[in-house]
Amino acid sequence: MNEDPCIVTSAPGKMIVLGEHSVVYGKPAIALAIDRRFYCKVRKSQDLTVNGYRATAGMHPHIRSVLHDNKAGNISVEATTDIPTSSGLGSSAALSASISLAVKKLFGRPVDERSIAEDAFNAEWFAQGRASPIDTSTCTHGKGIALNSPEGVGRHLWDVSKGGNKWAVKEIESPDMTFVVGYTGIHAPTGPIVEKVRKFKEHNRFAADIVDEIGLITLLGMNAIRRGDKEDLGNIMTDNHKLLSILGVSCKELNKLVNASLPHSYGAKLTGSGGGGSMIALTDKPDAVCEAIRLHGGVPMVVHTEPEGVRVERSAPGSGEFALE
Ligand code: PMV
Repeated sequence: MNEDPCIVTSAPGKMIVLGEHSVVYGKPAIALAIDRRFYCKVRKSQDLTVNGYRATAGMHPHIRSVLHDNKAGNISVEATTDIPTSSGLGSSAALSASISLAVKKLFGRPVDERSIAEDAFNAEWFAQGRASPIDTSTCTHGKGIALNSPEGVGRHLWDVSKGGNKWAVKEIESPDMTFVVGYTGIHAPTGPIVEKVRKFKEHNRFAADIVDEIGLITLLGMNAIRRGDKEDLGNIMTDNHKLLSILGVSCKELNKLVNASLPHSYGAKLTGSGGGGSMIALTDKPDAVCEAIRLHGGVPMVVHTEPEGVRVERSAPGSGEFALE
Protein backbone atom coordinates (compact mmCIF):
# COMPACT_ATOMS: atom_id res chain seq x y z
CA MET A 1 0.00 0.00 0.00
CA ASN A 2 1.35 3.45 -0.91
CA GLU A 3 1.78 5.55 2.29
CA ASP A 4 2.80 8.83 0.58
CA PRO A 5 0.46 11.71 1.37
CA CYS A 6 -2.10 12.22 -1.32
CA ILE A 7 -4.78 14.74 -2.06
CA VAL A 8 -8.03 14.53 -3.98
CA THR A 9 -9.27 17.59 -5.80
CA SER A 10 -12.07 18.20 -8.26
CA ALA A 11 -13.38 20.89 -10.60
CA PRO A 12 -16.63 21.22 -12.54
CA GLY A 13 -17.14 21.02 -16.27
CA LYS A 14 -18.74 23.94 -18.09
CA MET A 15 -21.00 24.81 -20.97
CA ILE A 16 -20.49 27.90 -23.08
CA VAL A 17 -23.91 29.53 -23.46
CA LEU A 18 -22.78 32.17 -25.97
CA GLY A 19 -19.59 33.44 -27.59
CA GLU A 20 -17.22 30.48 -28.17
CA HIS A 21 -14.54 31.05 -30.80
CA SER A 22 -15.09 34.84 -30.97
CA VAL A 23 -13.97 34.99 -27.29
CA VAL A 24 -10.53 33.80 -28.45
CA TYR A 25 -10.24 37.24 -30.13
CA GLY A 26 -11.23 39.24 -27.02
CA LYS A 27 -14.99 39.31 -27.70
CA PRO A 28 -17.48 38.65 -24.87
CA ALA A 29 -18.67 35.17 -23.81
CA ILE A 30 -20.87 33.57 -21.15
CA ALA A 31 -20.38 30.12 -19.61
CA LEU A 32 -21.99 28.23 -16.76
CA ALA A 33 -20.31 25.59 -14.59
CA ILE A 34 -22.21 22.28 -14.73
CA ASP A 35 -22.86 19.61 -12.12
CA ARG A 36 -20.38 17.10 -13.56
CA ARG A 37 -16.83 17.06 -12.21
CA PHE A 38 -13.27 15.93 -12.92
CA TYR A 39 -11.62 14.23 -9.88
CA CYS A 40 -7.88 13.83 -9.41
CA LYS A 41 -6.16 11.86 -6.66
CA VAL A 42 -2.57 13.11 -6.68
CA ARG A 43 0.65 12.20 -4.84
CA LYS A 44 4.34 13.02 -5.34
CA SER A 45 6.16 10.43 -7.45
CA GLN A 46 9.48 9.57 -9.17
CA ASP A 47 7.91 9.79 -12.65
CA LEU A 48 4.80 11.41 -14.06
CA THR A 49 2.18 8.66 -14.12
CA VAL A 50 -1.50 8.91 -15.03
CA ASN A 51 -3.92 6.13 -14.10
CA GLY A 52 -1.00 3.77 -13.56
CA TYR A 53 0.81 4.48 -16.86
CA ARG A 54 4.15 6.28 -17.07
CA ALA A 55 3.76 9.37 -19.29
CA THR A 56 6.21 9.49 -22.17
CA ALA A 57 7.50 12.80 -23.60
CA GLY A 58 4.68 14.88 -25.09
CA MET A 59 1.93 13.07 -23.20
CA HIS A 60 -0.33 15.00 -20.80
CA PRO A 61 0.69 18.56 -21.77
CA HIS A 62 -1.88 20.13 -19.38
CA ILE A 63 -0.34 18.37 -16.37
CA ARG A 64 3.21 19.12 -17.53
CA SER A 65 2.40 22.82 -17.91
CA VAL A 66 0.97 23.03 -14.37
CA LEU A 67 4.04 21.24 -12.92
CA HIS A 68 6.33 23.62 -14.81
CA ASP A 69 4.48 26.76 -13.66
CA ASN A 70 4.66 25.62 -10.03
CA LYS A 71 8.31 24.45 -10.26
CA ALA A 72 7.01 21.16 -8.90
CA GLY A 73 8.41 17.61 -9.08
CA ASN A 74 6.63 14.67 -10.70
CA ILE A 75 3.29 13.36 -9.54
CA SER A 76 1.15 10.32 -9.94
CA VAL A 77 -2.44 11.07 -10.87
CA GLU A 78 -5.52 8.90 -10.67
CA ALA A 79 -8.13 10.71 -12.71
CA THR A 80 -11.81 9.97 -12.98
CA THR A 81 -14.65 12.00 -14.42
CA ASP A 82 -18.26 11.96 -15.53
CA ILE A 83 -17.56 14.72 -18.11
CA PRO A 84 -17.18 13.12 -21.56
CA THR A 85 -13.70 14.07 -22.86
CA SER A 86 -13.21 16.21 -26.01
CA SER A 87 -16.93 16.92 -25.83
CA GLY A 88 -17.00 20.73 -25.49
CA LEU A 89 -17.82 20.42 -21.79
CA GLY A 90 -14.50 21.59 -20.36
CA SER A 91 -12.90 18.30 -19.33
CA SER A 92 -9.36 19.54 -20.00
CA ALA A 93 -9.94 22.84 -18.15
CA ALA A 94 -11.42 20.96 -15.19
CA LEU A 95 -8.45 18.55 -15.21
CA SER A 96 -5.98 21.48 -15.27
CA ALA A 97 -7.73 23.34 -12.43
CA SER A 98 -7.88 20.23 -10.21
CA ILE A 99 -4.23 19.37 -10.90
CA SER A 100 -3.19 22.96 -10.14
CA LEU A 101 -4.94 22.94 -6.75
CA ALA A 102 -3.48 19.51 -5.89
CA VAL A 103 0.07 20.49 -6.92
CA LYS A 104 -0.08 23.77 -4.97
CA LYS A 105 -1.21 21.89 -1.84
CA LEU A 106 1.31 19.01 -2.22
CA PHE A 107 4.30 21.25 -2.95
CA GLY A 108 3.42 24.01 -0.47
CA ARG A 109 2.69 26.76 -3.00
CA PRO A 110 0.28 29.60 -2.10
CA VAL A 111 -3.26 28.65 -3.03
CA ASP A 112 -5.61 31.23 -4.48
CA GLU A 113 -8.30 31.00 -7.11
CA ARG A 114 -6.73 33.50 -9.45
CA SER A 115 -3.40 31.65 -9.68
CA ILE A 116 -5.19 28.32 -10.20
CA ALA A 117 -7.14 29.91 -13.07
CA GLU A 118 -3.84 31.29 -14.45
CA ASP A 119 -2.12 27.86 -14.29
CA ALA A 120 -5.12 26.26 -16.00
CA PHE A 121 -5.22 28.92 -18.73
CA ASN A 122 -1.46 28.55 -19.37
CA ALA A 123 -2.01 24.79 -19.62
CA GLU A 124 -4.78 25.25 -22.23
CA TRP A 125 -2.57 27.63 -24.19
CA PHE A 126 0.36 25.21 -24.04
CA ALA A 127 -1.74 22.17 -25.03
CA GLN A 128 -4.21 23.72 -27.47
CA GLY A 129 -2.38 26.74 -28.92
CA ARG A 130 -4.45 29.95 -29.01
CA ALA A 131 -7.18 29.92 -26.34
CA SER A 132 -9.39 32.16 -24.23
CA PRO A 133 -9.79 31.95 -20.44
CA ILE A 134 -13.55 31.20 -20.62
CA ASP A 135 -13.25 27.46 -19.85
CA THR A 136 -10.52 27.72 -17.25
CA SER A 137 -12.18 30.64 -15.38
CA THR A 138 -15.51 28.79 -15.22
CA CYS A 139 -14.02 25.44 -14.17
CA THR A 140 -11.97 27.20 -11.47
CA HIS A 141 -14.61 29.56 -10.08
CA GLY A 142 -17.86 27.63 -10.72
CA LYS A 143 -21.20 29.53 -11.03
CA GLY A 144 -21.65 31.72 -14.12
CA ILE A 145 -18.78 33.56 -15.81
CA ALA A 146 -18.91 36.43 -18.29
CA LEU A 147 -15.83 37.61 -20.15
CA ASN A 148 -15.67 41.20 -21.37
CA SER A 149 -19.23 42.02 -20.31
CA PRO A 150 -20.29 45.69 -20.41
CA GLU A 151 -19.61 48.02 -17.48
CA GLY A 152 -21.92 47.22 -14.55
CA VAL A 153 -22.68 43.64 -15.67
CA GLY A 154 -21.21 41.06 -13.28
CA ARG A 155 -18.83 41.12 -10.31
CA HIS A 156 -15.24 41.65 -11.43
CA LEU A 157 -12.92 38.77 -10.44
CA TRP A 158 -9.63 39.37 -12.32
CA ASP A 159 -8.16 40.41 -15.67
CA VAL A 160 -6.23 38.21 -18.09
CA SER A 161 -3.98 39.26 -21.00
CA LYS A 162 -2.34 36.93 -23.52
CA GLY A 163 -1.54 36.80 -27.21
CA GLY A 164 -2.47 40.48 -27.70
CA ASN A 165 -5.98 40.07 -26.20
CA LYS A 166 -7.41 41.18 -22.86
CA TRP A 167 -10.33 39.67 -20.96
CA ALA A 168 -12.08 40.98 -17.84
CA VAL A 169 -13.33 37.92 -15.95
CA LYS A 170 -16.59 38.49 -14.06
CA GLU A 171 -19.01 36.35 -12.08
CA ILE A 172 -22.58 36.69 -13.31
CA GLU A 173 -25.84 35.80 -11.63
CA SER A 174 -27.81 33.41 -13.75
CA PRO A 175 -31.45 32.69 -12.96
CA ASP A 176 -32.47 29.06 -12.58
CA MET A 177 -32.72 27.69 -16.12
CA THR A 178 -32.84 24.13 -17.42
CA PHE A 179 -30.40 23.10 -20.12
CA VAL A 180 -30.12 19.76 -21.84
CA VAL A 181 -26.75 18.79 -23.28
CA GLY A 182 -26.74 16.53 -26.33
CA TYR A 183 -23.44 14.72 -26.86
CA THR A 184 -22.77 13.57 -30.43
CA GLY A 185 -20.27 10.93 -29.27
CA ILE A 186 -17.71 12.46 -31.64
CA HIS A 187 -14.37 13.33 -30.01
CA ALA A 188 -13.35 16.73 -31.30
CA PRO A 189 -10.09 18.14 -29.86
CA THR A 190 -10.25 21.93 -29.51
CA GLY A 191 -6.82 22.96 -30.87
CA PRO A 192 -7.29 22.08 -34.58
CA ILE A 193 -10.76 23.72 -34.71
CA VAL A 194 -9.48 26.95 -33.10
CA GLU A 195 -6.62 26.92 -35.63
CA LYS A 196 -9.07 26.41 -38.53
CA VAL A 197 -11.06 29.48 -37.40
CA ARG A 198 -7.83 31.51 -37.04
CA LYS A 199 -6.83 30.73 -40.65
CA PHE A 200 -10.35 31.43 -41.98
CA LYS A 201 -10.48 34.75 -40.09
CA GLU A 202 -6.99 35.77 -41.20
CA HIS A 203 -7.66 35.18 -44.88
CA ASN A 204 -11.29 36.16 -45.14
CA ARG A 205 -12.91 39.47 -44.13
CA PHE A 206 -16.28 37.69 -44.08
CA ALA A 207 -15.10 35.33 -41.27
CA ALA A 208 -13.84 38.32 -39.27
CA ASP A 209 -17.30 39.92 -39.63
CA ILE A 210 -18.95 36.73 -38.30
CA VAL A 211 -16.64 36.79 -35.27
CA ASP A 212 -17.68 40.44 -34.65
CA GLU A 213 -21.36 39.56 -35.10
CA ILE A 214 -21.08 36.73 -32.52
CA GLY A 215 -19.55 39.27 -30.12
CA LEU A 216 -22.51 41.64 -30.64
CA ILE A 217 -25.25 39.06 -30.12
CA THR A 218 -23.43 37.73 -27.04
CA LEU A 219 -23.80 41.19 -25.47
CA LEU A 220 -27.56 41.03 -26.18
CA GLY A 221 -27.62 37.55 -24.63
CA MET A 222 -25.98 38.87 -21.44
CA ASN A 223 -28.89 41.28 -21.04
CA ALA A 224 -31.41 38.50 -21.68
CA ILE A 225 -29.77 36.37 -18.95
CA ARG A 226 -29.92 39.30 -16.50
CA ARG A 227 -33.61 39.78 -17.22
CA GLY A 228 -34.22 36.01 -17.01
CA ASP A 229 -35.78 36.30 -20.49
CA LYS A 230 -35.61 32.72 -21.77
CA GLU A 231 -37.40 33.49 -25.08
CA ASP A 232 -34.87 36.15 -25.95
CA LEU A 233 -31.87 34.13 -24.77
CA GLY A 234 -33.07 31.05 -26.69
CA ASN A 235 -33.45 33.01 -29.93
CA ILE A 236 -29.97 34.48 -29.50
CA MET A 237 -28.52 30.99 -28.86
CA THR A 238 -30.06 29.71 -32.09
CA ASP A 239 -28.69 32.73 -33.98
CA ASN A 240 -25.29 32.03 -32.44
CA HIS A 241 -25.47 28.44 -33.74
CA LYS A 242 -26.19 29.68 -37.27
CA LEU A 243 -23.20 32.04 -37.12
CA LEU A 244 -20.95 29.25 -35.79
CA SER A 245 -22.14 27.01 -38.64
CA ILE A 246 -21.18 29.69 -41.16
CA LEU A 247 -17.79 29.86 -39.45
CA GLY A 248 -17.42 26.15 -40.29
CA VAL A 249 -17.30 24.70 -36.78
CA SER A 250 -20.58 22.78 -36.73
CA CYS A 251 -21.12 19.36 -38.33
CA LYS A 252 -24.13 17.39 -39.55
CA GLU A 253 -24.50 15.47 -36.26
CA LEU A 254 -24.60 18.71 -34.24
CA ASN A 255 -27.06 20.31 -36.66
CA LYS A 256 -29.28 17.23 -36.42
CA LEU A 257 -29.40 17.43 -32.60
CA VAL A 258 -29.96 21.22 -32.63
CA ASN A 259 -32.84 20.90 -35.14
CA ALA A 260 -34.39 17.99 -33.23
CA SER A 261 -34.33 20.00 -29.97
CA LEU A 262 -35.73 23.26 -31.34
CA PRO A 263 -39.46 22.29 -31.36
CA HIS A 264 -39.23 21.68 -27.56
CA SER A 265 -36.80 24.50 -26.67
CA TYR A 266 -36.38 28.25 -26.43
CA GLY A 267 -33.21 27.80 -28.46
CA ALA A 268 -30.30 25.48 -29.11
CA LYS A 269 -26.70 25.66 -30.28
CA LEU A 270 -23.42 23.80 -30.33
CA THR A 271 -21.31 24.41 -27.21
CA GLY A 272 -17.52 24.57 -27.01
CA SER A 273 -15.29 24.22 -30.03
CA GLY A 274 -17.71 22.16 -32.19
CA GLY A 275 -16.77 19.78 -35.01
CA GLY A 276 -18.50 17.10 -32.90
CA GLY A 277 -18.67 17.28 -29.12
CA SER A 278 -21.94 18.65 -27.72
CA MET A 279 -24.88 20.97 -28.20
CA ILE A 280 -27.11 22.57 -25.58
CA ALA A 281 -30.81 23.41 -25.55
CA LEU A 282 -32.54 25.85 -23.19
CA THR A 283 -35.91 24.35 -22.34
CA ASP A 284 -38.80 23.90 -19.92
CA LYS A 285 -39.44 20.44 -21.43
CA PRO A 286 -36.24 18.50 -20.66
CA ASP A 287 -37.88 15.10 -21.13
CA ALA A 288 -39.07 15.96 -24.64
CA VAL A 289 -35.63 17.34 -25.57
CA CYS A 290 -33.85 14.27 -24.15
CA GLU A 291 -36.14 12.00 -26.18
CA ALA A 292 -35.55 14.02 -29.38
CA ILE A 293 -31.77 13.92 -28.84
CA ARG A 294 -31.84 10.17 -28.19
CA LEU A 295 -33.98 9.55 -31.31
CA HIS A 296 -31.43 11.44 -33.40
CA GLY A 297 -28.42 9.46 -32.20
CA GLY A 298 -27.17 11.72 -29.39
CA VAL A 299 -26.61 11.14 -25.68
CA PRO A 300 -28.75 13.54 -23.61
CA MET A 301 -27.86 14.89 -20.14
CA VAL A 302 -29.94 17.33 -18.14
CA VAL A 303 -27.44 19.68 -16.49
CA HIS A 304 -27.75 22.19 -13.66
CA THR A 305 -25.58 25.15 -12.84
CA GLU A 306 -22.83 24.21 -10.38
CA PRO A 307 -22.06 26.82 -7.72
CA GLU A 308 -18.80 25.23 -6.57
CA GLY A 309 -15.55 25.65 -8.45
CA VAL A 310 -12.29 23.80 -7.83
CA ARG A 311 -12.08 22.22 -4.37
CA VAL A 312 -10.40 19.64 -2.17
CA GLU A 313 -12.48 16.48 -1.78
CA ARG A 314 -12.82 14.17 1.20
CA SER A 315 -12.77 11.13 -1.09
CA ALA A 316 -12.82 10.32 -4.80
CA PRO A 317 -15.79 8.54 -6.35
CA GLY A 318 -15.28 4.81 -6.14
CA SER A 319 -12.09 5.15 -4.06
CA GLY A 320 -13.60 4.87 -0.59
CA GLU A 321 -12.31 7.08 2.21
CA PHE A 322 -8.65 8.10 2.38
CA ALA A 323 -6.66 10.69 4.24
CA LEU A 324 -6.10 14.06 2.63
CA GLU A 325 -3.50 16.79 3.10
O1 PMV B 1 -14.46 22.69 -26.66
P1 PMV B 1 -13.92 23.36 -25.48
O2 PMV B 1 -14.58 22.94 -24.21
O3 PMV B 1 -12.42 23.21 -25.37
O4 PMV B 1 -14.25 24.93 -25.60
C1 PMV B 1 -13.44 25.76 -26.40
C2 PMV B 1 -13.96 27.16 -26.51
C3 PMV B 1 -13.28 27.98 -27.61
O5 PMV B 1 -13.84 29.29 -27.58
C4 PMV B 1 -13.51 27.37 -28.98
C5 PMV B 1 -11.76 28.06 -27.40
C6 PMV B 1 -11.36 28.90 -26.19
O6 PMV B 1 -10.25 28.65 -25.69
O7 PMV B 1 -12.11 29.80 -25.79
